[in-house]
Amino acid sequence: MNFFFIIWFLSSLVFSQRFFVISDVHLDVHYNSSYDTSFHCHSTRHVESSYIPTPTNNSKIYGRLGCDSPKSLLKSALEEMRLIDPSPDFLVLLGDSVSHYAMHLLNNENEIDVNYNKYLVRQTIVDLTNLVEEFFPETQIIQAIGNNDGYERYQAPSGREGAEYLEFLYELWKPSAIEISGSFYDGGYYRSFTGSGYHILALNTNYLSSQSERKEESLEQLEWLRDEVEESDGDVIILLHIPPGFSMYDGGEQGWHEDYSKIFFDIVENNARKIKYILSGHRHLGSFKVIPNATVPFIVNPAISPIFFNNPSFRYFNESDYTDFIFNLYDEAPKWKKEYSFKEFFNLEGLDFIQAYLELESDDDLLEKFLSHSRGLSNVKTLSRDQLWTIETGGNHTEIPDTLRRVVLCSMKTFDQVHFNLCKNNENI
Ligand SMILES: *[C@@H]1O[C@H](CO)[C@@H](O)[C@H](O)[C@H]1NC(C)=O
Ligand SMILES: *[C@@H]1O[C@H](CO)[C@@H](O)[C@H](O)[C@H]1NC(C)=O
Ligand SMILES: *[C@@H]1O[C@H](CO)[C@@H](O)[C@H](O)[C@H]1NC(C)=O
Ligand SMILES: *[C@@H]1O[C@H](CO)[C@@H](O)[C@H](O)[C@H]1NC(C)=O
Ligand SMILES: *[C@@H]1O[C@H](CO)[C@@H](O)[C@H](O)[C@H]1NC(C)=O
Repeated sequence: MNFFFIIWFLSSLVFSQRFFVISDVHLDVHYNSSYDTSFHCHSTRHVESSYIPTPTNNSKIYGRLGCDSPKSLLKSALEEMRLIDPSPDFLVLLGDSVSHYAMHLLNNENEIDVNYNKYLVRQTIVDLTNLVEEFFPETQIIQAIGNNDGYERYQAPSGREGAEYLEFLYELWKPSAIEISGSFYDGGYYRSFTGSGYHILALNTNYLSSQSERKEESLEQLEWLRDEVEESDGDVIILLHIPPGFSMYDGGEQGWHEDYSKIFFDIVENNARKIKYILSGHRHLGSFKVIPNATVPFIVNPAISPIFFNNPSFRYFNESDYTDFIFNLYDEAPKWKKEYSFKEFFNLEGLDFIQAYLELESDDDLLEKFLSHSRGLSNVKTLSRDQLWTIETGGNHTEIPDTLRRVVLCSMKTFDQVHFNLCKNNENI
């Protein structure tokens, strides 16, 4: 344990709170339990498919592996959350509320109608927000925008449509968020304070994404972040949908433009003691990252949508620990159950990610157990080791352990291509 960790740990004892994190729900308002993955569980046609889907007799009411979430799955998650803690201090939604194919579905006349698809996107966000509020009517609910929540993947709507989109979200989110700063209208990023005292800074990572080119607006957003953090008294939580740095998948895909990551980590490193957590979603797995020069917990949160053959999962933070709960869709009769708690799994006193990383790096068995927890798969008896690695990395499992193992580890602790490559080649960094 290093000095900063001890300071952080002591302060966390005085200031510990209970909250839920939900991410990547990908609520699919067109989900039909009778249709399989060949049509993304839809009974309606898609832009890219020419034939009419046919139903199967294998109905999946609470969700199907390989598809996005039906409303019944989100409802069942919220029911379980309410059993665990009916009055958390607040609840965070990290974006990607909308299903992957909302913009691809044909309308009832089997035609492409972009306005209909845009309506589906907005209606999904309304349905989701209403449902969460219904289950947690007294709870402060804070949401961030994800890359599937707009009208085009990874793109923040712009111009007049962009202004209308932000107005729509502001009106919808404001009542349960309590406070949303005026910066929201500059690009969907904002400050809020929790009733319990956290200073929340929710970014809109669509601008920062390596899949979009919005330089001026990105730099403006990061300058805003710098000012907010510098002027803060502390207890900041930064919310991101897309995390900076590499995915574990496909040999490692960069989430942000590197220039923006550099600015972001400069802000974080210079204000480390003020930042309580950085929380992201997007990867559909529950993991963490180790920031090079600061002891700030950077936590990647799991998904409700089982589209990548991960089990649906949400996370509960309490007493400077967190616990994942999962819904085992590999079972014929799925139920919610505890997947794991961080401190118990690593046998640590607090969220010491530096130590946890070192343990993963030096123990292959532990790393595999962690990977299976990160996708909510530890109770799945039918899954082989090879299948687990394929789900995690998309890689050819004939290659395990070394290259894939390095991709997994390096994606947890490097944020630029140069260091990522050095790390993958097992060189000292
Ligand atoms: C699901 O598909 C079945 C079979 O095609 C159909 O009868 C039913 O109306 C569909 N349900 C919904 C909610 O669309
Ligand atoms: C559907 O039901 C028929 C008749 O019971 C059966 O022969 C067939 O194997 C079933 N298909 C699936 C996918 O379960
Ligand atoms: C961490 O600090 C070292 C030494 O000051 C510096 O060379 C390096 O660039 C920093 N790394 C990052 C990612 O900021
Ligand atoms: C925190 O929550 C977990 C999961 O519900 C529970 O098992 C644990 O006892 C809680 N810890 C404390 C200190 O309340
Ligand atoms: C994995 O590698 C083996 C042997 O090189 C090859 O036969 C197989 O097609 C590969 N599988 C995939 C999914 O790339």
